[in-house]
Amino acid sequence: MYQVIARKYRPQSFDDVLNQDHIKTTLRNAIEQNRIAHGYIFSGQRGTGKTTTARIVALCLNCEKGPTDKPCGVCPSCVEIAAGGAVDVIEIDAASNRGINEMRELRENVRYQPARDRYKIFIVDEAHQITNEAFNALLKTIEEPPEWAVFILCTTESHKIPATIASRCQHFSFRSVDFNDLIDRMREICTSEGVETDDETLAVLAQAGEGSVRDSLSALDQAIACCGNKLNADQVRGLLGAFGLDAMAQVTAALSANDGAAMLGLVDELERNGGSPQHFSRELSRYIRNLLVTKIAGEDSRLVTASPAEKKELARIAGMFAEEDLTRYLQFSLELFRDLQFSMQPRFHLEIGLLKMIQAGKLVGIEEALASVGGETRQAAAPPARVAAAPAQATPAYSAPSPAPRAPVSPGPNKPAAPQQIFAGPPSPDDDWREKLQSGMIKAGLQFSADAMGHAEAALVNNELIIRAPKQFQLDLGREEIVAALKQMGHPTLRFKVVFGDVKPPGGEGGQTPKSAPKPVAQDEVTERALNHPEVQKFRDLFGGEVRNVRNLKE
Ligand SMILES: Nc1ncnc2c1ncn2[C@@H]1O[C@H](COP(=O)(O)OP(=O)(O)OP(=O)(O)O)[C@@H](O)[C@H]1O
Ligand SMILES: [Mg+2]
Ligand SMILES: [Zn+2]
Repeated sequence: MYQVIARKYRPQSFDDVLNQDHIKTTLRNAIEQNRIAHGYIFSGQRGTGKTTTARIVALCLNCEKGPTDKPCGVCPSCVEIAAGGAVDVIEIDAASNRGINEMRELRENVRYQPARDRYKIFIVDEAHQITNEAFNALLKTIEEPPEWAVFILCTTESHKIPATIASRCQHFSFRSVDFNDLIDRMREICTSEGVETDDETLAVLAQAGEGSVRDSLSALDQAIACCGNKLNADQVRGLLGAFGLDAMAQVTAALSANDGAAMLGLVDELERNGGSPQHFSRELSRYIRNLLVTKIAGEDSRLVTASPAEKKELARIAGMFAEEDLTRYLQFSLELFRDLQFSMQPRFHLEIGLLKMIQAGKLVGIEEALASVGGETRQAAAPPARVAAAPAQATPAYSAPSPAPRAPVSPGPNKPAAPQQIFAGPPSPDDDWREKLQSGMIKAGLQFSADAMGHAEAALVNNELIIRAPKQFQLDLGREEIVAALKQMGHPTLRFKVVFGDVKPPGGEGGQTPKSAPKPVAQDEVTERALNHPEVQKFRDLFGGEVRNVRNLKE
């Protein structure tokens, strides 16, 4: 009688089980050291080896030569267990035996010694289906079972196993099987079945299983049944309803070309070929997800299950989009997939969904936009920095001088042209230091500092510049700003001191106070300056909109 490949090639020893190394090692050690627990939970994705491993544990424990981690495979116990007919290995399908009566029966059964073998092993498949009362009936048995009893609860949904049961068991989670290992295994199977294939076909079959070995092997069975002893990728794709990268790449091509008509053409073709919109959107999500992962993790990422040639192509396509674009497309495609599950008009839904992706368009990432604004001014910062005489010092990022295409409004009569000459010569106490500092700051692109200077006093006393400013300008009149201004003024080494506190109202008494009173900067002047600022202009170019209100944060 014909036996399906998945069963025919069911591993009979730990060595044959793909991956799951953490589980194999622990179980092997436990068997070797004779530290067998009475309760195990094997959880994980379907078709990853839970039932298989449970049977291998049974073989190991009950083999005549055992307990051993290498069962002989030929003794009556081994043969019977492998064939699934051993009296002392009881497999219970909890999907159909989930009630309290079945569990009471089981409890009775546990009490009797094994008929022939060392252990009585209960393999409970789909254990999460057992009802709560039934679990409670089992609790005592699992906690204090007779020495010969071993329970192995297999489940795809371990969170549904009550904590009371779980805490009495050792828990192993089975991982989905590595793509390349699975391909290797299928290649071996094909060889021993006398089936000719190639890597691309095997990749299609491996993808079809989505990490489940059983599903991939079933697909292989189906492919052999359909195509005979020679498998080719296109045929197998057609059989499994899988979409090749080419088909999917048409979607991204339409996206990148903003071509709605092409998108609609795709849907039409899908329908004419009898394809299912649901299936298509699912494959589309997977495809976009692969693009996104490739974009983030690189072409060689193990997170993408695809053949090397496909990975290369994915990387090429991913290069046409930004990470943010792909993230949004993935979001859209998942929403589309969800909507299609309930849709009465799947075709229309698919059309709308794909068109929405186009309409969403490609966005310029906000970081990119901001970087371009900052980048320009940062570049512009270079030449003025060279003007400064003193060796370059770290300047705060925002102090980068802007090239100011339209001359910035200067608070004083001095146009900032040729400042070196104006400020040349030894420092003199008679100069208007506040004004000089303001001009220097404007020259250095420190608009806010220049504004702040408007509220400050400055005087040269014993060759030291004393600056007094209200407390709220502490940030704008830091040492770095003043050093930058002094450099612009041609006094890079002048000693100075900044005192924050009360500043006398404009027009204060003589002595060391500056000659002219601080001039508050008029609001429309501030507005004009803000609007003329190149970064502001760049922002307006990028984001549009209007500037309604300009506020000096320091006031
Ligand atoms: N890790 C693996 N290594 C090799 N073959 C495997 C592995 N996992 C599954 N298989 C193959 O898949 C078939 C089904 O495996 P098994 O019954 O152990 O899966 P399962 O995890 O119990 O799945 P389910 O949750 O659906 O019960 C096996 O007969 C075997 O051929
Ligand atoms: Mg199973
Ligand atoms: Zn044996």
